[in-house]
Amino acid sequence: MAHRFKPSQTFKDCDVTDESVYRDRRNVIKSLGFAGLGALMSQPASAFGWFTDDEEKKDTFRTRPLDFSVNENFKPDEVLTPEAKVTSYNNFYEFGTDKSDPVNNAQQFITEPWTLKVDGLVEKPLTLNYDDLFTRLALEERIYRLRCVEAWSMVIPWTGFQLSHLLAEAKPLSSAKYVAFKTLYDPEQMPGQRSRFTGGGVDYPYVEGLRIDEATHPLTMLATGVYGKSLPPQNGAPVRLVVPWKYGFKSIKSIVSITLTDKEPPTTWKRLAHREYGFYANVNPAVDHPRWSQASERRITSGGLFNQNRIPTRPFNGYEEVASLYAGMDLSKFY
Ligand code: MTE
Repeated sequence: MAHRFKPSQTFKDCDVTDESVYRDRRNVIKSLGFAGLGALMSQPASAFGWFTDDEEKKDTFRTRPLDFSVNENFKPDEVLTPEAKVTSYNNFYEFGTDKSDPVNNAQQFITEPWTLKVDGLVEKPLTLNYDDLFTRLALEERIYRLRCVEAWSMVIPWTGFQLSHLLAEAKPLSSAKYVAFKTLYDPEQMPGQRSRFTGGGVDYPYVEGLRIDEATHPLTMLATGVYGKSLPPQNGAPVRLVVPWKYGFKSIKSIVSITLTDKEPPTTWKRLAHREYGFYANVNPAVDHPRWSQASERRITSGGLFNQNRIPTRPFNGYEEVASLYAGMDLSKFY
């Protein structure tokens, strides 16, 4: 991963969004109903007082409000990362290697229509279209921490469904041991895929993989939304993975296929630098990245990027319930 930070990427001090503010705002929107929402969205957001300048900017993304229930089991007592940061500080090398590239380069990305296939070692291969992603399985919101290998982290309200629910529909065969994921390959739309220079040396399409017990763990989610709306392109529209106990690079974006297999699938960052990035990529403060420590992280909340809370990193990013998946494994070897 290129690890460049641009000093120009600063945010306003006023852009913190704590959960109650986000919820209240959402309740106002809900009570207005769909018709009311249209009228609301056509007004300059600042006219309503409770939008900041940053939010006005982010309303230009082609997103739409989603219907979902809030999963109360996943509401950590932590300040949310402001929406403006979640949607403008991204890794999506298909659109450039700087954190600000995806928001600037991905806005024309066509995500509708979309096709997501579930195939391989399954009884019932599935093909989902764009609408299926939002209607086939009930959407719920879960607030998860996302910890990046570059030692920053965010707290994000994702909307989506458990991956296990989709896989159950496809009926995996008993020979299926792993799940392989693939991002769209479309160099015409994704400038990073046009050459090694523009795409950070990655051999596209971006691929990821999980062991089947990881993929079917209740924490593992396919997200179709963030902050109550469909995903903006820079966050992996229309559907991306979220595995909250693993480093962020496992959370592959803009997925077109999910393939059940009997062999450990190749993964983009392991293929690029296997000494630095392993297949498992479990958040582990005890295993340093070869070039820097993983013992602490910069939690991105309010304020400028260089003035953030530094906090100790927790094993499995604090999701200790997954530890039993790795019983008996030497996690310094299987990093
Ligand atoms: N998926 C694809 N297809 N391409 C990428 O470059 N970057 C990964 C992951 N998924 C990446 C990807 C990395 S390194 C991180 S940290 C997360 O996406 C960032 O997700 P976010 O931008 O929504 O925070």
